[in-house]
Amino acid sequence: GAAVSADISKLELGQLIRVEWRGRPVWIVKRTEEMLAQLADTENRLRDPGSEVPQQPAYAQNRHRSIKPEIFVAVGICTHLGCSPTYLPSDFAGQVEGINSGFFCPCHGSRFDMAGRVFQNVPAPTNLVIPPYMFVDDGTILIG
Ligand code: FES
Repeated sequence: GAAVSADISKLELGQLIRVEWRGRPVWIVKRTEEMLAQLADTENRLRDPGSEVPQQPAYAQNRHRSIKPEIFVAVGICTHLGCSPTYLPSDFAGQVEGINSGFFCPCHGSRFDMAGRVFQNVPAPTNLVIPPYMFVDDGTILIG
């Protein structure tokens, strides 16, 4: 099958790891309490804060867009023209004032929050895609 297993047992707070799934990069990030708290602060600046565009599993249609709040899983490809955004865990405020963490696409300047939700006034039309996944156990995710 096309499913890929990822070991997250050693993932540290704020760390991002990449796995390849169907030729695409998938990011797994262990979000900090601060990152989760800031998901409320971004909402009035997002294009689709409630993730109403159908592009993800139903279990990701919540503010943190994930099964477990702290574990973020997303396809690491910009929804504009397919570049790979840069993870800025602590120096994102230069991109969006007052928001410390997020993803910045260097190709044409799209910006995404720590749930992969796209900010307004950038070229990317939709939030980052959430792939199908499940937890095999606390330290293992199966993607696909
Ligand atoms: Fe990311 Fe254009 S490909 S902004």
